[in-house]
Amino acid sequence: MTKSDGFRKINTAIFISGTGSNLKSLIKYCSKKNSTYKINLIISNNRKAKGLIYAKKYKIDKKVVNYKNRYIAENNILNHLYKKKIKLICLAGFMKILSNKFITKFNGKIINIHPSLLPKYKGLNTHIRAINNKEKYSGCTVHYVNSKLDSGKIIMQKKVKIYKKDTPIKLANRILKEEHILYPKALKKIFFSL
Ligand code: GRF
Repeated sequence: MTKSDGFRKINTAIFISGTGSNLKSLIKYCSKKNSTYKINLIISNNRKAKGLIYAKKYKIDKKVVNYKNRYIAENNILNHLYKKKIKLICLAGFMKILSNKFITKFNGKIINIHPSLLPKYKGLNTHIRAINNKEKYSGCTVHYVNSKLDSGKIIMQKKVKIYKKDTPIKLANRILKEEHILYPKALKKIFFSL
């Protein structure tokens, strides 16, 4: 926690593996004048993650962590998090599963965004599964991370209609736009519980 402009800001790390469009939307939200969050660190398991460009662009520290061995990788990450006094972790397209040990160390302080209306369609390939099952709606969910994949307490959800002619890509793009709105809203919602 740091004091800035008279109010507390929560030191936050964002974990990514790819494009980083959610990272970008979180950076924009957190850079607003009255924001109560400060993004101090970006962690990626993938040195080629496109989202890493935002570290440079917005002058945020980044660490690329070699994930050949998860135990070593997580210890490295924990060291970076402690050094930066991180109080909240936002997973944003992070494609590695965190160990129970890691999750326990940040219990209740790790959140994730998932492109489905959880508890439906946990895991990967959510859009094609929702379309094939002839769902009328899909959407996105921000939730706390616990030891079971995509199963932690739900913070917020946004429904998105599935059209008859939808392809997984079209649906993914429409949902992604909503993700960029939902994730900052979820941060706002949980602030007082952190
Ligand atoms: C998003 O759809 C998110 O819900 C999922 O992975 C995707 C990441 O996209 N977990 P981006 O890297 O934030 O653009």
